[in-house]
Amino acid sequence: MLPERRGVIVGAELNKGPDHISDHGVRTVRRGRRSGRRRLLFWMFSIAAVFSICIAVFGFKMLFPGVEEHQNFSSLTDGKDVSIKSDTVEQPKKKPHRGRFNPCEVALASSVDELVEPKAFWNFANFSLHYVEREEIPSLENPTAPRFGGHQTLEERERSFHAVNQTIHCGFVKGLEGLPSTGFDLVEEDKVYMSTCTVVVSSCIFGSSDFLRRPTSKLISQYSKKNVCFIMFVDKETLEKLSKEGSTPDERGFIGLWRMVVVSNLPYDDMRKTGKVPKFLSHRLFPSARYSVWLDSKMRLHTDPMLLIDYFLWRKKSEYAISNHYTRHCVWDEVQQNKHLNKYNHTAIDEQFLFYQSDGLHKFDPSDPNNPLPSYVPEGSFIIRAHTPMSNLFSCLWFNEVDRFTSRDQLSFGYTFLKLMRTNPDKRLVLHMFKVICNCITSLLCFHYKLFPLSK
Ligand SMILES: *[C@@H]1O[C@H](CO)[C@@H](O)[C@H](O)[C@H]1NC(C)=O
Ligand SMILES: *[C@@H]1O[C@H](CO)[C@@H](O)[C@H](O)[C@H]1NC(C)=O
Ligand SMILES: *[C@@H]1O[C@H](CO)[C@@H](O)[C@H](O)[C@H]1NC(C)=O
Repeated sequence: MLPERRGVIVGAELNKGPDHISDHGVRTVRRGRRSGRRRLLFWMFSIAAVFSICIAVFGFKMLFPGVEEHQNFSSLTDGKDVSIKSDTVEQPKKKPHRGRFNPCEVALASSVDELVEPKAFWNFANFSLHYVEREEIPSLENPTAPRFGGHQTLEERERSFHAVNQTIHCGFVKGLEGLPSTGFDLVEEDKVYMSTCTVVVSSCIFGSSDFLRRPTSKLISQYSKKNVCFIMFVDKETLEKLSKEGSTPDERGFIGLWRMVVVSNLPYDDMRKTGKVPKFLSHRLFPSARYSVWLDSKMRLHTDPMLLIDYFLWRKKSEYAISNHYTRHCVWDEVQQNKHLNKYNHTAIDEQFLFYQSDGLHKFDPSDPNNPLPSYVPEGSFIIRAHTPMSNLFSCLWFNEVDRFTSRDQLSFGYTFLKLMRTNPDKRLVLHMFKVICNCITSLLCFHYKLFPLSK
């Protein structure tokens, strides 16, 4: 039970950081001492709820003391047998908004061994994308400063939304020969390792902004341990801090299942922006990868990645899967919330938002049956994608918005998706936007989510 308890503490600490102020956290602060008693009550309920989960999980395991790990895992993830639904968990009744978070009923396959990539899976829009490697002609306004994202003009930006054979900006843009690197430098050995990966789970911690959460090893199949790359991108500072806390990579560069990859020469001063490089550009970092799973560092992988790929991509016949926000579906609300929580420079948010409105972004209408998405606001801490041309294109476009405007990627998601669809009426990005998944996938973290819906 120890890890579960520690999990709660981690959640609490997360809430203290200015970068992770949750809706709940802010309300709590504002209500101040008056809410002290309710808070105590809330905590008591929370702890009780966590313990119920512990009992649900570990109690079940105890019923099968002799079975091997793999079978145990099967039983655990089988939605029918043991779905750890929130209605089996004692929920704090006094917070009605929490009732809105759906119970998790993700019926994953029972074993990785049964999985087969569907034959027709790669039947998505087919075109060939190339990426700007080097900007030969320095831009007029800024002739000497090469940028990681390059200097994409507005015309180039407009053209980049067309899903046709073309060369687009997608980060990793080098300057003219002889100029210093534009950043995100990796050592050769890591590059070689990364170039061999065909399925990737990745995450990052830059600027010592978080703990290292290791994938729950006993829930990861032997197949995935052998065939999936688990890559944690960190900067040197973070690695040193982790080492001081007792997590030192072994001689092969691993801490648990994570292979630690040190990034030097970070391309942006804003660590959040830097974090968007591995988050969006896994198809650039892992050129041979067919599939990738992205996890924010606040989440712990609690499920076999192949089961996730099967469930979210293969079975849904989708090339890109992302969760939507717990409560917000409209970019207007997201903008307001970002300002309210002082998430970013207000002027910069307004610039981005006005630009999008002038280019067709409209309010989300939940009653419109023709909505191409269930929400325009993602909760992008968990992304599963096939590296298809359309999925790669979307990733590049979304990254370019973050590079051009603010690092608040939930402001640009809906706009980017809608513009991509509008520009290519005959092609689709088959995107599966799902309700926030909870206990089944990242059991610990999702449970945190329920207690502390971290807004981003
Ligand atoms: C996409 O097109 C390329 C080049 O025409 C071809 O080699 C490839 O097999 C196609 N992929 C699919 C999935 O059809
Ligand atoms: C796009 O590129 C592929 C090769 O990757 C080629 O087979 C195809 O004909 C090209 N399509 C167009 C419209 O040029
Ligand atoms: C906020 O953003 C605006 C526009 O991007 C910029 O001019 C201004 O300097 C920024 N303010 C701060 C405090 O960073």
